Amino acid sequence: MIVVKSPEEIELMRECGSILATILAQVKQEVRPGIRTSALDEMVVEEMKKWGVIASFKGYHGYPASLCVSINNEVVHGIPGARVVREGDVVSLDLGVFHRGFHTDAAVTVGAGEMSSQARKLIEVTESALQEGVNQARAGNHVGDISAAVQRHAESKGLAVVREYTGHGVGRELHEEPQVPNFECGRGPLLRKGMTIAIEPMVTNGGWRTMVASNKWTVLTADGSLSAHFEHSIAITDGEPEVFA
Ligand code: MF3
Ligand code: CO
Repeated sequence: MIVVKSPEEIELMRECGSILATILAQVKQEVRPGIRTSALDEMVVEEMKKWGVIASFKGYHGYPASLCVSINNEVVHGIPGARVVREGDVVSLDLGVFHRGFHTDAAVTVGAGEMSSQARKLIEVTESALQEGVNQARAGNHVGDISAAVQRHAESKGLAVVREYTGHGVGRELHEEPQVPNFECGRGPLLRKGMTIAIEPMVTNGGWRTMVASNKWTVLTADGSLSAHFEHSIAITDGEPEVFA
């Protein structure tokens, strides 16, 4: 079932998303060669305490951290730990915040230090693919319009979109209906005012296939190619989509 939110509920998600964006921007600033990924997670924990909000991911199906840090060939669900970020790494940060009954979910990818032109292009195209998707998130369109726009943009630049993981509805639950694929797979449900969804292209500079690492969490590109990930939680309105940020 797709849940449509009231203006009051949207207001709560707006507040949640604004706190999320503030924390995510702060962590992003800290990504540089030499930083331990666990230090990024610790920073998130501290900031969340200050804001009085809860990490959506911690304990979700047993996920052990508050933040996901996925580096280079890691697509999503990288677990922060002893790993140290190195010059040229492609670092994806994914964060979910729960506040006053609602979740919002967002991700960014940032380069550490001097980047290869391939890595820079991957990050740039993934971010603009998200924007292309958001532009289609309008009442009267279908979920498939978002999916097609994301795929078209990434593939037109010679990159591939991951198919085995998708965006999703977001609200009282971290993952709600509908699924929001990043590739064409049918028209999908009609978008209506008050629907809140997370659009999250995962793009690689190789193929779209993935595998799961031996820690049972971290998703890797099957061919070892680089991957980037951007995500916004948004609301469908009468006009322009509202990005919670
Ligand atoms: N943004 C991710 C998603 O929507 C959240 C990670 S799930 C967790 O799937 F298990 F790591 F929490
Ligand atoms: Co998500």
